Amino acid sequence: MKVSVKTPATIANLGCGFDSFGLALPLYNVVSVEETVLPGSGIEINIINEKNNEDISDIPTDKNNIVYKAIELLYNFIGQIPNELKITIKTQIPISRGLGSSASVIVGGLIAANELLGRPADEKVLMSIATEIEGHPDNITPAFVGGINLSSWEEDGSVIYRKLPWNDEWKLMVCVPDYELNTEISRSVLPKEVPMKDAIFNLKRSAMFVDALYNKDEELLKLSLKDKLHQPYREKLVPGLAEIMNNLKHINGVVGTVLCGAGPSILVIYNGIGVSEIKETVTNTWNYFNVKSNFLNLPIEKEGAVIL
Ligand code: HSE
Repeated sequence: MKVSVKTPATIANLGCGFDSFGLALPLYNVVSVEETVLPGSGIEINIINEKNNEDISDIPTDKNNIVYKAIELLYNFIGQIPNELKITIKTQIPISRGLGSSASVIVGGLIAANELLGRPADEKVLMSIATEIEGHPDNITPAFVGGINLSSWEEDGSVIYRKLPWNDEWKLMVCVPDYELNTEISRSVLPKEVPMKDAIFNLKRSAMFVDALYNKDEELLKLSLKDKLHQPYREKLVPGLAEIMNNLKHINGVVGTVLCGAGPSILVIYNGIGVSEIKETVTNTWNYFNVKSNFLNLPIEKEGAVIL
């Protein structure tokens, strides 16, 4: 038996909600898991990149692979060890660009393996295993259930999440640069402690963000998309981020500009006007830093992981 699962890309943080907010995008990875029939054939992992320009040579295809590690935890949860398994990972989501490619394949692999095993684990268990491997519920939750969510990884290892409403008049433009940024490196530049005033700044904005979504309040959303906890520290790893955020402020239609997850992609939320000016501004600013950009105009993916 073979089970395939399609999971969406994600954008975590959304400015003020560091490690807390995330949304799903209609770009997908597909993970297939099958038990091989030949005893002793071991673990086989194949990665197929469906975007030709992505370098996947560094992704482990042995037991260090994150999809395998997640599946192994699921097997351990039911007191078993995976022996003969073939895992095929087809990727379309750009890798190491802040678009949740890891979360997507971890969630896909776990759901596929869970089906294969006769569904021993419920959503709560699967989300908790996925977050243990990936580390960030703000990516795992939207990859799993779609939409835009708030989520929290609790001290007991469980993930609490709630879906939030989205006003479809707010559009998303994802600006993807032509270089990768590893999440670990992007987290390594963050301080262990932050000034109280910065914590309060983000606390207020996270509350504003939720209220803005429920009340379709564009002015409040605009205020809420600011951040002092992670983006200022990551600017040095994302050339042009500060300049793009500043330059886009003056364009009619732009509601806010945030870093996608740990970067380096940039998300512009706008109200339907100003598309060509946004693209031109981002292109010109990144050109100055010798960075080439690709633009994705996408709605929020309302659906999460789907068994094919
Ligand atoms: N919230 C996490 C971060 C997402 O910003 O580091 C990592 O993909």
